[in-house]
Amino acid sequence: MKYIYLDNASTTFPKAPNVANAMSDYLTNYGININRGSYALAYDVEDIIYTTRQRLNTLFNGHDPSHVIFTQNVTMSLNMVIKGLLKSGDHVLVSTMEHNAVMRPLTQLLDNGITFDVIPCDVTVSIEIDAIESLIRPNTVAIIINHASNVCGTIQPIQSIGALCKAHNLHFIVDAAQTAGVIPINVKACHIDALCFTGHKGLLGPQGIGGIILTKEMAQILTPLIAGGTGSFSHLETIPTHMPDAFEAGTLNLPGITGLNEGLSYIEAVGMKNIHNHELALTKTFLEGLRSITGINIIGKQEIQDRTAVVSITINGVDPASIAYELESNYYIMTRVGLHCAPRAHQTLGTYPEGTVRFSFGYANTHEDVEAALCALHTIANNTK
Ligand SMILES: Cc1ncc(COP(=O)(O)O)c(C=O)c1O
Repeated sequence: MKYIYLDNASTTFPKAPNVANAMSDYLTNYGININRGSYALAYDVEDIIYTTRQRLNTLFNGHDPSHVIFTQNVTMSLNMVIKGLLKSGDHVLVSTMEHNAVMRPLTQLLDNGITFDVIPCDVTVSIEIDAIESLIRPNTVAIIINHASNVCGTIQPIQSIGALCKAHNLHFIVDAAQTAGVIPINVKACHIDALCFTGHKGLLGPQGIGGIILTKEMAQILTPLIAGGTGSFSHLETIPTHMPDAFEAGTLNLPGITGLNEGLSYIEAVGMKNIHNHELALTKTFLEGLRSITGINIIGKQEIQDRTAVVSITINGVDPASIAYELESNYYIMTRVGLHCAPRAHQTLGTYPEGTVRFSFGYANTHEDVEAALCALHTIANNTK
């Protein structure tokens, strides 16, 4: 029996075709460090790292490749920005759909005198832009937004929110975990000061690599969280201000960056729009099929517009965990059940504390996968009547 992987919002699988080969080639044939050795092979590796920064800078219309920072994942990126920016007395706004990658650092900072308020969402789970202005206080310094919900797929209007941030002189921080590589993001046009992304989801790279696209202003005011060797300015015991070194102390995840580079190259070759259109076509078929099954509730975003390929469901009277268990044990379908590290989003959607069963389609899924999931859900829902 063939396993069907429908948990691409967690991590995409399979990765882009050449990712594993490129990483293996790097580790086997030229796996040396950069910025530390003045030998030719190190410059070859540096070329790949710089090309990856350039690709990311182009993809997101960033300000300069030197302001593309590599981290381990979007969680680390968000921690670096949130903790590097906020000081005692500061106030920030977030949405009701945030992931714990935002909420946990902010909750930690409550002890340091940093506070936050939550912007409500409307019935389509889209942020109520009109509510934002009334929440801005004299000490508000930033708005932090999850670009697309990892629970129900809603894409937030970051261009309008960015314009509002600009008008009110607020920093705009975006968690692009669910959209980077799938939905176009224009850092300059959306006035994003820090775009935080992870490499192992829509960018089709390996786990353990992520990053931040910073504006020049943000790079100057952000305090680096990690201090250490950069291979540059070694005569200094202070952190260099030179970019990207200021935020990249310690040896980088070079195999990870090499793999991410291949993910980016694949997205460039196939076209982000084509990938998204394929995933949306699967989502459309899935949503239509779900509507014909009695007892199934589609949670949150119902329409195909302004969404990613993430769909959450519940079945009346059935524990979501048992649905996911049955999907895997009887139908070999892998989904993600529970609260998806986003308890506040589930409170917003009315699915807290049981959560939902989440289906998330990727570039490699097929219409047969969707049909198999619908067929299985049909049987599960009928058996519970
Ligand atoms: C919206 C959102 N933010 C943050 C994260 C955390 O991603 P990572 O584990 O790569 O740091 C995820 C992962 O599921 C997510 O969906």
